[in-house]
Amino acid sequence: MKIAIASDHGGFELKENVKKYLEGRDIEVMDLGTYSEESVDYPAYGKACGQAVASGEADRGIVCCGTGIGISIAANKVKGVRCALCTDVHMAEMTRKHNDANVLAMGGRTTELETALAITAAWLDTEFEGGRHQRRVDMLDAE
Ligand code: RB5
Repeated sequence: MKIAIASDHGGFELKENVKKYLEGRDIEVMDLGTYSEESVDYPAYGKACGQAVASGEADRGIVCCGTGIGISIAANKVKGVRCALCTDVHMAEMTRKHNDANVLAMGGRTTELETALAITAAWLDTEFEGGRHQRRVDMLDAE
């Protein structure tokens, strides 16, 4: 699996830690920046990650900003992206089971690192249930 990962300055430290976690699991990471704590604009990074997933360059994506809110909105503007902002493990499991979320958003200033890594693990390891949820997910991508 290849994961595209992106953040603004508010999510930079979390992105770096999530990247280390993914690499520790031998998951290929496409790091789309940002690469420092210098102030940048989250819409550009959310869009870049969304486009990497929607184009198939990456299988899934992870985006981080201060709260996870702005960058999740940006990622969700890209057609085919289902980005879910998760603040606990239950949300991460549910968004995989019911929404087939292909991008995970988290907040570097709002979520403790230990929780963020547990969210990441749950989101990676939980499968989409399909069935009655498939039709609803299809509706998300309909014109
Ligand atoms: C940047 O200061 C902050 O606005 C951003 O990281 C994010 O929280 C936006 O939703």
